[in-house]
Amino acid sequence: MSATARRIIRLCRRMLSHMFEFKPQTYASKHEHYQDLLQQARGVLHGEHNLIANAANFSALVYHSLPQLNWAGFYLFDGTELVVGPFQGKPACIRIALGRGVCGTAAQSRRTQLVRDVNAFDGHIACDAASQSEIVVPLVKPDGSLLGVWDVDSPVTDRFDEEDRVGMKALCAVFMASLAV
Ligand code: SME
Repeated sequence: MSATARRIIRLCRRMLSHMFEFKPQTYASKHEHYQDLLQQARGVLHGEHNLIANAANFSALVYHSLPQLNWAGFYLFDGTELVVGPFQGKPACIRIALGRGVCGTAAQSRRTQLVRDVNAFDGHIACDAASQSEIVVPLVKPDGSLLGVWDVDSPVTDRFDEEDRVGMKALCAVFMASLAV
């Protein structure tokens, strides 16, 4: 085998281990964890603009990186309502009208919804009875139209705080930039 071929194989191995190995890590802070996750998201989405491919990999990355999650994924706006898109977790509700539940509220208001206790959120849609807290970020295209929402659920009450709001919004900005829409 030539030296060049060996170099290429080494490079490919390094890229694959960087992209697909979720090594258990400890972080000094939640902020540091999100900074690392942002770098990983940039790496996983780099060079690809396909919506489904990037949404699928983004969901898998976040779901397997952050602790205490039971669902992480997308609801995409079809022009009328939200329709479930790529996600990780148990099968979920398929269609959500604008204004309904946490996702529909985030989509309609275009404001991130940080719900510390879903049982206290009027109209919360319980796709999985295990979910106790939730954060939903609206995804708006550069032209102002709605792409959908990014929804993350936890079986733990009060799982998400202001640092998660900042972190999730930064992750969504990386996701939206990757689509180049
Ligand atoms: N709980 C969400 C519905 C989606 S699932 O959690 C995956 C809501 O109230 O909109």
